Amino acid sequence: MTRVVESVAELAALRSVWLAQGLRVGFVPTMGALHAGHASLVRRARAENDICVVSVYVNPLQFGPREDLARYPRDLAGDVKLCESVGADVLFAPRDDEMYPAGFQTVVDQLHLPRLLEGKARPTHFRGVLTVVLKLFNLVRAHRAYFGQKDYQQTVVLRRMALDLHVGTEVLVLPTVREEDGLALSSRNRYLSVKERKDALCLSQALVAGEALIRSGERRGSAVTHVMRARIERVKKAAIDYVACVDPETLRPLKQVGATSVLLVAVRLGKTRLIDNSLVML
Ligand code: PAJ
Repeated sequence: MTRVVESVAELAALRSVWLAQGLRVGFVPTMGALHAGHASLVRRARAENDICVVSVYVNPLQFGPREDLARYPRDLAGDVKLCESVGADVLFAPRDDEMYPAGFQTVVDQLHLPRLLEGKARPTHFRGVLTVVLKLFNLVRAHRAYFGQKDYQQTVVLRRMALDLHVGTEVLVLPTVREEDGLALSSRNRYLSVKERKDALCLSQALVAGEALIRSGERRGSAVTHVMRARIERVKKAAIDYVACVDPETLRPLKQVGATSVLLVAVRLGKTRLIDNSLVML
């Protein structure tokens, strides 16, 4: 049975018991509307630890003023079911007034990484992610936390925070789970119309084309992004936010592709903004 915990005090009480018993805690932070991508993280957390905690919290601080906070999908009953089916011990669903009580002041930010890529369209997004994840880490005090490569920049930013702030939770990253046709699973896919769902394949196909070009010997980053862009531009309704070929740690554009590079795309289809990426290791 998955126990649903809504208060910080109740979570703290459970955590004290786990720590006293020397149990290892695995943690999967999410914003809910859970799907098979989230489930893969929970399964791994379950397998590698004694206790598995999943948080479901739609964090207002990481949404910009014109973003989809109000319509972001919420389905706590479905989330509880999924957590039960994969054996999570606790689903922590804190309330806004406990996460951000009146008088809340303190935020976590970084000097450079949050301004790149996603940060251009979403300038305050990573400040919100960093702040809520550090708060959740402090509340859960897990040994390990599990994140998806689907949000590649998020994993780089959070790994950096864990290093910089001596966070005692190890950050682990697992591969992106995809539909059979290649579309990366995302809570936002449910916004897509039938036509947009078809068009959305241009993201994963652009990544496949970019990777194939690198594997065929191309080393100029600009040539790789050119081919990816051309693939997306075949879809009339697709508006490109960015197409990039970057260093996996600094996230800076690569003039020359080396042993490891990351290809990233962000595309708007109607009102829905989708992202995807692929890590290319030669
Ligand atoms: P959310 O979008 O709900 O994602 C929660 C976790 O699931 C993230 O680590 C994300 O990368 C991972 N995930 C999403 N889709 C995936 C897929 N197709 N395959 C594998 N993993 C996938 O990311 C967030 O929430 C928030 O920013 C959060 C970290 C919880 C902070 O609020």
